[in-house]
Amino acid sequence: MTDKMLSAIDIGSSKVATIVGVKSTESNELRIVGFHSSPSKGVKKGLIVDIDEISMAVEECVEKTERMAGHKINQAFVSVGGPHISSLNSHGVVAISNPQTEIVEDDVNRAIDAAKAISISNTRQVIEVIPREYVVDGQTGIKNPIGMTGIRLEVDTHIITASHTNLKNLDRCLSELGLSNAGFIFAGLASAQAVLTDTEKELGVVLVDIGGGKTDICLYVEGALSYSASIPVGARHITNDIAVGLRVSLQSAEEIKLYLSHYLNNKKEPPKKDADLNLTQLHLPENVSSVTLKSLTDGIIAPRLEEIYNLLEQEIEKSGFANSVPSGLVITGGGALTIGMTELGRKYMGIPIRIGIPQGMTGLVDELLNPQYATTVGLLLYGQKNIITEVGWKNFNKILKDISFGNSITKIKEFFKQFIP
Ligand SMILES: Nc1ncnc2c1ncn2[C@@H]1O[C@H](COP(=O)(O)OP(=O)(O)OP(=O)(O)O)[C@@H](O)[C@H]1O
Ligand SMILES: [Mg+2]
Repeated sequence: MTDKMLSAIDIGSSKVATIVGVKSTESNELRIVGFHSSPSKGVKKGLIVDIDEISMAVEECVEKTERMAGHKINQAFVSVGGPHISSLNSHGVVAISNPQTEIVEDDVNRAIDAAKAISISNTRQVIEVIPREYVVDGQTGIKNPIGMTGIRLEVDTHIITASHTNLKNLDRCLSELGLSNAGFIFAGLASAQAVLTDTEKELGVVLVDIGGGKTDICLYVEGALSYSASIPVGARHITNDIAVGLRVSLQSAEEIKLYLSHYLNNKKEPPKKDADLNLTQLHLPENVSSVTLKSLTDGIIAPRLEEIYNLLEQEIEKSGFANSVPSGLVITGGGALTIGMTELGRKYMGIPIRIGIPQGMTGLVDELLNPQYATTVGLLLYGQKNIITEVGWKNFNKILKDISFGNSITKIKEFFKQFIP
């Protein structure tokens, strides 16, 4: 069997990152062969606000990744996120077509179709339909009902929708560059795929991806994705606060923020709070030569982190699962690297908090072992697992991956026949 080449483009508010991986059909290993990240332009809070600017940024990033991978990118999974994302849980019920034998994939598809029959505004588009659990004749908690016997099949699904306009803009950006879209994936879901463990999902956990312009959230209860959302606050707000607080430009504020992370992370012991942070080596145009650590961390950064945690708390409360996430928060995105993120979060939320580093790939991984690239890596991991790229069709009924087709041509024909309208 031949190995399969997969690509993904993470279009963020701060950066565009493109990644190419080779999926081994024998070992199931995903080997990264190309990666590039460059500044993004024309995206605010996950929404495209200038197609030309973002197209140029994506074009440059894709070209550099192609050069590294030595392979042309024709098709890619694409990230979607931001406050235009919303989610709901929907229930579908069907009668099993042949109760004398066993439940077949067609029954499962019909149940999922029934759950999908929801009324949504025509400005929105469904991007994910994920089965959470099946119920056969009242027996709950079933992960895969195929092969079981019963009369009535129910499914609980998690449905994620996004703004139709934004998806069209993303598609336009790709088609202008001659790229085809292998499937939209919610950025929070991609990050979850890259960093969460099965145990965390089983116990109950919230994935929080703090990017530049927005924070994407995926909440898991009993192994199932139960709530997805996005809030319009990101790490760029911290940069804004530093710019206002120290009266410097946004660019200087960003440099100070990154320098502070670098400085504190390389210290063996935490420095005294009244110590000064020497900024002379940054050669800032504003002639700011030093600033006290306390004023920066406690005076400027901490209040914004508290605000982010406050919004997260409200969102978790809104989900209705606030008491079902003992594994706490797993934080990804560049914002996860903000000084004080975990310490302040543990104090504020009173639950475990860890930073999520992407896992599950080999090859050129050094640069990718960073929470900032959780979505980027996760797009490939989630895409290869759940989306059939050859027919450009998104595998809504995730259970199909569990079905072995053997060599039967008839079965393969039947499999493709179900996608023909
Ligand atoms: N070491 C660091 N310390 C503090 N902040 C950091 C660090 N590295 C990156 N960041 C911040 O992370 C943010 C970018 O994160 P990320 O790359 O995840 O955003 P994005 O994916 O482009 O945006 P979004 O997901 O919101 O559309 C920037 O605001 C940047 O300042
Ligand atoms: Mg992002």
